[in-house]
Amino acid sequence: MTPEKLVELAKEAMTHAYVPYSGYKVGAALLCGDGSVYQGCNIENASYSPTVCAERTAFFKAVYDGHRAFEAIAVCGGKDGVITGAFPPCGVCRQVMREFCDDDFLLYLVDAEGFETVTLADILPHSFSPKKHLGIG
Ligand code: THU
Repeated sequence: MTPEKLVELAKEAMTHAYVPYSGYKVGAALLCGDGSVYQGCNIENASYSPTVCAERTAFFKAVYDGHRAFEAIAVCGGKDGVITGAFPPCGVCRQVMREFCDDDFLLYLVDAEGFETVTLADILPHSFSPKKHLGIG
């Protein structure tokens, strides 16, 4: 699986978004340690707070299926599905990534020209992790 292919799968996932309130379509494609890929989209709600982001949809689908090791995620989004710039993961999604991923987990943030590669350590420094919780990290 190449980064470019993962980006294409994130763009395809974006077309599944349910966004009657914000109009912001977001897609994610999550690469698991065994090479399988899980796609996710954002799913909004009339009561707003139950809204779930694309990244968490992808993670929760994968975790439900038994995956615990992850390599990378591609994320894209934009108003009406038009990508004008990078759509970085929200803080809640970053913390969900931290639950399962180490500092070197890769994120491909899609923009109008291509994508930028960052690590989880780049976007979530000084984080609270499962190891911290257990007192072993
Ligand atoms: N959204 C995501 O899907 N991922 C993020 O990391 C940031 C925000 C969604 C939630 C909401 O449906 C829309 O983008 C606008 O905030």
